[in-house]
Amino acid sequence: MVYETKIWLILSLLFGASYMQHFVYGKPQVPCIFIFGDSLSDSGNNNNLLTASKVNFKPYGIDFPKGTTGRFTNGLTAIDIIGEILGFEDFIPPFANIGGSDILKGVNYASGSAGIRYETGKHLGVNVELGLQLQHHKIIVDQIGTKLGGDQKASQYLNKCLYYVNIGSNDFISNYFLPQFYPTRRIYKPEEYAEDLVNKLSQSLKILRDVGARKFVVFGVGPIGCTPNAIANHGSCIEEQNDAAFIFGTKLKSLVDQLNSQFTDSKFLFRNISSDPFDTSHGFKVVDAACCELTLNATCTRDKTPCHNRNEYKFWDGFHPTSATNKLVAFNSYFSSNPNIVYPINIQHLLHSS
Ligand SMILES: *[C@@H]1O[C@H](CO)[C@@H](O)[C@H](O)[C@H]1NC(C)=O
Ligand SMILES: *[C@@H]1O[C@H](CO)[C@@H](O)[C@H](O)[C@H]1NC(C)=O
Repeated sequence: MVYETKIWLILSLLFGASYMQHFVYGKPQVPCIFIFGDSLSDSGNNNNLLTASKVNFKPYGIDFPKGTTGRFTNGLTAIDIIGEILGFEDFIPPFANIGGSDILKGVNYASGSAGIRYETGKHLGVNVELGLQLQHHKIIVDQIGTKLGGDQKASQYLNKCLYYVNIGSNDFISNYFLPQFYPTRRIYKPEEYAEDLVNKLSQSLKILRDVGARKFVVFGVGPIGCTPNAIANHGSCIEEQNDAAFIFGTKLKSLVDQLNSQFTDSKFLFRNISSDPFDTSHGFKVVDAACCELTLNATCTRDKTPCHNRNEYKFWDGFHPTSATNKLVAFNSYFSSNPNIVYPINIQHLLHSS
């Protein structure tokens, strides 16, 4: 955690809190984080669901302190790392397994294969789509109301939490671009599909706001056409998938701008996780192949030993980034809250230390 300390000394913090708070009181910059999303954030919600989209087996979690948890990567997810940067000592617990945890610090509702649309990913089995994630959040909000002594008090408390919304990839790769299972591509042009997704996401953000949310960070979709799975199937990046993700990001950015002007009591941040897929700066040597041996469905083969130089791989399995990549995403997401940021220290060192 030395690297974070150095950064804290130099930089001001998200949403204007001061670094002194972090040091003097050891207090996180926000009291709570609620996480909505898919396998990029899932930390075990799918483990007991009837679905092929679950990874509670080795080598998943090989670099995670507690081993296999249901995270779709070798170590930490991006939101795990953002939580650490924000000062949380514990990971935010998955909704499916909150037993004993302090829900006042937040809950993770994310579910592998889930999308903004209900039907997304359902060819793999059950998942918790965004709509159901919102219903789960309402259950938690009620429990927080009971703990704090009323809806008003709950709402005041929830105003201070961070709402992390990173969802949409599956609406493309496990829906629009799987015409053998889903009709959406025959119904919508790419522009129309993105428009519809963004409208649905907008409704969800407003529902969250109605139950107390005021601080949001909303993510675009990365270059889904350049995953090892896409490259293996197509021989090169699938540009129409990248184009679709790009359109979605552009529309989502406009939505965020619009919400910021419409709701002056709320703050919405847009984060773009698109970058050059073949960028080998930051110490990445393998950007187009998975670190683990893959099954036909592009997940890691159970119990097979993965690559050793995991920090040099951008991808862990056919779809999911390694925790080295997640670190980069987390740092960029956090620090781009300051557009004028000049990295004060060697980011390479940060990325490859644990
Ligand atoms: C992938 O296939 C393996 C067996 O080959 C199966 O155990 C697993 O559930 C499948 N996962 C997905 C996401 O389809
Ligand atoms: C996201 O980043 C990519 C790559 O840098 C850029 O081409 C694109 O315009 C960005 N999208 C938005 C909405 O900012």
